[in-house]
Amino acid sequence: MKTKSIWGNPPTRLYKLISLAEQNWGKKYKACIVGCSDGKFLMPFARRGTTVVGYDIDDTALYGGIKAFPIIDKKVKYDYKPDFISKKYELEDKKVLGTIDRIKLEKVENFAKVEKRDFYRDVPNEKYDVVFTSCSLHYSANQDFTLQEKTHKLQNIVSEDGYLYMDYMMAIDEDDYEKYPSSKFYRKNEILDFFDSDWEIISFRENHNPTFEGAHVDCVYDHFHRFGYLLAKRIGKND
Ligand SMILES: C[S@@+](CC[C@H](N)C(=O)[O-])C[C@H]1O[C@@H](n2cnc3c(N)ncnc32)[C@H](O)[C@@H]1O
Repeated sequence: MKTKSIWGNPPTRLYKLISLAEQNWGKKYKACIVGCSDGKFLMPFARRGTTVVGYDIDDTALYGGIKAFPIIDKKVKYDYKPDFISKKYELEDKKVLGTIDRIKLEKVENFAKVEKRDFYRDVPNEKYDVVFTSCSLHYSANQDFTLQEKTHKLQNIVSEDGYLYMDYMMAIDEDDYEKYPSSKFYRKNEILDFFDSDWEIISFRENHNPTFEGAHVDCVYDHFHRFGYLLAKRIGKND
Protein backbone atom coordinates (compact mmCIF):
# COMPACT_ATOMS: atom_id res chain seq x y z
CA MET A 1 0.00 0.00 0.00
CA LYS A 2 1.46 3.36 -1.05
CA THR A 3 1.08 6.13 1.54
CA LYS A 4 1.47 9.90 1.24
CA SER A 5 3.16 12.57 3.29
CA ILE A 6 1.05 15.48 4.54
CA TRP A 7 3.80 17.65 3.03
CA GLY A 8 3.14 16.39 -0.52
CA ASN A 9 5.57 14.70 -2.89
CA PRO A 10 9.34 15.15 -2.68
CA PRO A 11 10.89 17.53 -5.24
CA THR A 12 13.02 16.25 -8.14
CA ARG A 13 16.21 17.37 -6.34
CA LEU A 14 15.73 14.46 -3.92
CA TYR A 15 15.63 11.96 -6.80
CA LYS A 16 18.72 13.60 -8.36
CA LEU A 17 20.54 13.06 -5.08
CA ILE A 18 19.38 9.42 -4.97
CA SER A 19 20.68 8.90 -8.55
CA LEU A 20 24.02 10.43 -7.62
CA ALA A 21 24.31 8.12 -4.61
CA GLU A 22 23.29 5.09 -6.69
CA GLN A 23 25.96 5.91 -9.31
CA ASN A 24 28.50 5.52 -6.50
CA TRP A 25 27.12 2.71 -4.39
CA GLY A 26 24.09 1.15 -6.09
CA LYS A 27 21.41 0.72 -3.43
CA LYS A 28 23.97 -0.26 -0.79
CA TYR A 29 24.63 2.87 1.18
CA LYS A 30 23.30 4.46 4.36
CA ALA A 31 21.13 7.58 4.31
CA CYS A 32 20.00 9.78 7.15
CA ILE A 33 17.18 12.33 7.20
CA VAL A 34 17.54 14.94 9.94
CA GLY A 35 14.03 16.22 10.69
CA CYS A 36 12.28 13.40 8.82
CA SER A 37 8.78 14.53 9.88
CA ASP A 38 6.23 12.01 8.48
CA GLY A 39 8.72 10.53 6.03
CA LYS A 40 8.38 12.69 2.91
CA PHE A 41 12.12 12.42 2.23
CA LEU A 42 12.70 9.11 3.98
CA MET A 43 10.24 6.82 2.20
CA PRO A 44 11.81 7.21 -1.30
CA PHE A 45 15.10 5.72 0.01
CA ALA A 46 13.36 2.87 1.86
CA ARG A 47 11.13 2.01 -1.13
CA ARG A 48 14.25 1.53 -3.26
CA GLY A 49 15.80 -0.81 -0.70
CA THR A 50 18.35 1.61 0.72
CA THR A 51 18.97 1.69 4.46
CA VAL A 52 17.70 4.97 5.87
CA VAL A 53 17.45 6.41 9.37
CA GLY A 54 15.22 9.35 10.25
CA TYR A 55 15.39 11.59 13.32
CA ASP A 56 12.68 13.98 14.48
CA ILE A 57 11.30 15.57 17.65
CA ASP A 58 7.65 15.82 16.57
CA ASP A 59 5.66 12.97 18.19
CA THR A 60 2.67 13.28 15.85
CA ALA A 61 4.90 13.27 12.75
CA LEU A 62 6.66 10.14 14.03
CA TYR A 63 3.84 8.17 15.66
CA GLY A 64 0.73 9.61 13.98
CA GLY A 65 -2.17 11.43 15.62
CA ILE A 66 -4.22 14.56 15.13
CA LYS A 67 -3.03 17.76 13.45
CA ALA A 68 -4.90 21.02 12.80
CA PHE A 69 -5.26 21.92 9.11
CA PRO A 70 -6.40 25.34 7.83
CA ILE A 71 -9.66 25.23 5.85
CA ILE A 72 -8.87 26.90 2.52
CA ASP A 73 -11.85 27.41 0.16
CA LYS A 74 -9.92 29.14 -2.58
CA LYS A 75 -6.15 29.22 -3.06
CA VAL A 76 -4.87 32.78 -3.50
CA LYS A 77 -1.23 33.71 -4.16
CA TYR A 78 -0.03 37.03 -2.73
CA ASP A 79 2.96 39.19 -3.65
CA TYR A 80 5.47 39.87 -0.93
CA LYS A 81 5.10 42.99 1.22
CA PRO A 82 7.14 43.48 4.42
CA ASP A 83 3.93 44.32 6.32
CA PHE A 84 1.86 41.45 4.85
CA ILE A 85 -0.86 40.21 7.21
CA SER A 86 -2.47 36.87 6.48
CA LYS A 87 -6.19 36.29 6.79
CA LYS A 88 -7.18 34.02 9.65
CA TYR A 89 -8.27 30.52 8.64
CA GLU A 90 -10.67 28.23 10.45
CA LEU A 91 -8.99 24.99 11.47
CA GLU A 92 -10.08 21.39 11.29
CA ASP A 93 -8.49 18.45 13.05
CA LYS A 94 -7.49 15.51 10.89
CA LYS A 95 -5.93 12.18 11.70
CA VAL A 96 -2.51 11.80 10.15
CA LEU A 97 -0.19 8.85 9.71
CA GLY A 98 3.23 9.02 11.32
CA THR A 99 6.47 7.86 9.70
CA ILE A 100 6.32 4.66 11.73
CA ASP A 101 2.79 3.85 10.41
CA ARG A 102 3.90 4.58 6.86
CA ILE A 103 6.96 2.31 7.17
CA LYS A 104 4.75 -0.54 8.41
CA LEU A 105 1.99 -0.01 5.82
CA GLU A 106 4.52 0.02 2.99
CA LYS A 107 6.38 -2.97 4.50
CA VAL A 108 9.79 -1.32 4.36
CA GLU A 109 10.76 -2.04 7.98
CA ASN A 110 13.89 -3.85 6.74
CA PHE A 111 15.25 -0.62 5.31
CA ALA A 112 13.86 2.26 7.36
CA LYS A 113 14.37 3.10 11.00
CA VAL A 114 13.08 6.14 12.84
CA GLU A 115 14.15 7.53 16.16
CA LYS A 116 12.81 10.34 18.29
CA ARG A 117 15.96 12.39 18.84
CA ASP A 118 16.77 16.07 19.21
CA PHE A 119 19.51 15.86 16.62
CA TYR A 120 21.31 19.17 17.19
CA ARG A 121 21.42 18.60 20.97
CA ASP A 122 22.29 14.92 20.77
CA VAL A 123 24.23 14.12 17.59
CA PRO A 124 24.34 10.35 16.96
CA ASN A 125 27.69 8.63 16.92
CA GLU A 126 27.14 7.27 13.42
CA LYS A 127 28.29 8.09 9.90
CA TYR A 128 26.09 8.13 6.81
CA ASP A 129 26.84 8.25 3.08
CA VAL A 130 23.96 10.64 2.45
CA VAL A 131 22.72 13.17 5.00
CA PHE A 132 19.66 15.19 4.07
CA THR A 133 17.87 17.96 5.91
CA SER A 134 15.06 20.17 4.68
CA CYS A 135 14.38 23.31 6.69
CA SER A 136 15.11 21.93 10.14
CA LEU A 137 17.77 24.37 11.33
CA HIS A 138 15.54 27.39 11.96
CA TYR A 139 13.25 25.61 14.45
CA SER A 140 13.09 27.35 17.84
CA ALA A 141 14.17 24.08 19.48
CA ASN A 142 17.57 24.69 17.85
CA GLN A 143 18.05 28.36 18.59
CA ASP A 144 20.72 27.78 21.27
CA PHE A 145 23.15 26.79 18.54
CA THR A 146 24.65 29.04 15.91
CA LEU A 147 24.09 28.20 12.26
CA GLN A 148 27.78 27.34 12.03
CA GLU A 149 27.47 24.85 14.91
CA LYS A 150 24.36 23.27 13.38
CA THR A 151 25.99 23.00 9.97
CA HIS A 152 29.06 21.36 11.55
CA LYS A 153 26.86 18.90 13.46
CA LEU A 154 25.35 17.79 10.14
CA GLN A 155 28.80 17.57 8.55
CA ASN A 156 30.06 15.43 11.45
CA ILE A 157 27.83 12.49 10.53
CA VAL A 158 28.78 12.41 6.83
CA SER A 159 31.19 9.61 5.95
CA GLU A 160 34.22 10.06 3.71
CA ASP A 161 33.07 10.53 0.07
CA GLY A 162 29.54 11.06 1.41
CA TYR A 163 27.07 13.79 0.51
CA LEU A 164 25.38 16.45 2.59
CA TYR A 165 22.23 18.10 1.22
CA MET A 166 20.70 21.03 3.06
CA ASP A 167 17.89 23.36 2.22
CA TYR A 168 17.46 26.21 4.60
CA MET A 169 15.61 29.39 5.44
CA MET A 170 17.24 32.73 4.73
CA ALA A 171 16.50 36.17 6.15
CA ILE A 172 14.04 38.00 3.90
CA ASP A 173 15.42 41.28 5.26
CA GLU A 174 19.13 40.64 5.86
CA ASP A 175 19.45 43.67 8.16
CA ASP A 176 16.56 42.69 10.42
CA TYR A 177 18.09 40.52 13.18
CA GLU A 178 15.00 40.75 15.36
CA LYS A 179 12.61 39.15 12.90
CA TYR A 180 15.33 36.99 11.32
CA PRO A 181 17.77 36.05 14.13
CA SER A 182 21.27 35.05 13.08
CA SER A 183 20.91 31.66 14.81
CA LYS A 184 17.94 30.73 12.58
CA PHE A 185 18.19 32.47 9.21
CA TYR A 186 21.21 32.42 6.92
CA ARG A 187 22.47 35.56 5.23
CA LYS A 188 23.58 35.56 1.58
CA ASN A 189 26.57 33.21 0.98
CA GLU A 190 27.08 32.79 4.74
CA ILE A 191 26.83 29.01 4.57
CA LEU A 192 29.82 28.78 2.20
CA ASP A 193 32.14 29.92 5.03
CA PHE A 194 31.13 26.83 7.03
CA PHE A 195 32.47 24.40 4.41
CA ASP A 196 36.26 24.07 4.55
CA SER A 197 38.70 22.29 2.22
CA ASP A 198 37.34 18.88 3.33
CA TRP A 199 34.30 19.68 1.21
CA GLU A 200 33.51 20.10 -2.46
CA ILE A 201 30.42 22.19 -3.13
CA ILE A 202 28.52 20.39 -5.87
CA SER A 203 25.57 22.73 -6.17
CA PHE A 204 24.54 25.90 -4.41
CA ARG A 205 21.63 28.26 -4.96
CA GLU A 206 20.13 30.99 -2.85
CA ASN A 207 16.93 32.78 -3.80
CA HIS A 208 17.00 36.52 -3.86
CA ASN A 209 13.25 36.98 -3.57
CA PRO A 210 10.80 35.53 -1.05
CA THR A 211 8.48 32.73 -2.13
CA PHE A 212 4.80 32.75 -1.16
CA GLU A 213 3.51 29.76 0.78
CA GLY A 214 -0.17 29.31 1.55
CA ALA A 215 -1.28 28.37 5.07
CA HIS A 216 -0.60 24.72 5.86
CA VAL A 217 -0.50 22.29 8.74
CA ASP A 218 2.02 23.49 11.40
CA CYS A 219 1.97 27.05 9.94
CA VAL A 220 -1.69 27.94 9.56
CA TYR A 221 -1.38 31.42 8.04
CA ASP A 222 -0.19 32.57 4.60
CA HIS A 223 3.51 33.44 4.73
CA PHE A 224 6.73 33.92 2.77
CA HIS A 225 10.08 32.19 2.86
CA ARG A 226 13.42 32.79 1.24
CA PHE A 227 15.23 29.52 0.59
CA GLY A 228 18.79 28.36 0.07
CA TYR A 229 19.94 24.97 -1.26
CA LEU A 230 23.34 23.33 -0.98
CA LEU A 231 24.78 19.94 -1.92
CA ALA A 232 28.34 19.14 -0.87
CA LYS A 233 30.59 16.10 -0.97
CA ARG A 234 33.08 15.25 1.76
CA ILE A 235 36.45 14.88 0.08
CA GLY A 236 38.48 14.86 3.29
CA LYS A 237 38.57 12.30 6.09
CA ASN A 238 36.02 12.12 8.91
CA ASP A 239 37.72 10.49 11.92
C1 LIG B 1 10.06 21.79 7.81
S1 LIG B 1 9.89 20.24 8.58
C2 LIG B 1 10.10 19.19 7.27
C3 LIG B 1 8.79 19.18 6.54
C4 LIG B 1 8.74 18.49 5.25
N1 LIG B 1 9.52 17.29 5.23
C5 LIG B 1 9.06 19.39 4.08
O1 LIG B 1 10.13 20.03 4.05
O2 LIG B 1 8.26 19.50 3.19
C6 LIG B 1 11.38 20.07 9.49
C7 LIG B 1 11.34 18.96 10.51
O3 LIG B 1 12.54 19.08 11.28
C8 LIG B 1 12.23 18.64 12.59
N2 LIG B 1 13.27 19.13 13.50
C9 LIG B 1 13.54 20.42 13.82
N3 LIG B 1 14.55 20.46 14.73
C10 LIG B 1 14.90 19.18 14.98
C11 LIG B 1 15.87 18.58 15.85
N4 LIG B 1 16.63 19.29 16.67
N5 LIG B 1 15.99 17.24 15.84
C12 LIG B 1 15.19 16.48 15.04
N6 LIG B 1 14.25 16.99 14.22
C13 LIG B 1 14.10 18.32 14.19
C14 LIG B 1 10.85 19.22 12.85
O4 LIG B 1 10.19 18.56 13.91
C15 LIG B 1 10.17 19.02 11.50
O5 LIG B 1 9.45 17.81 11.45
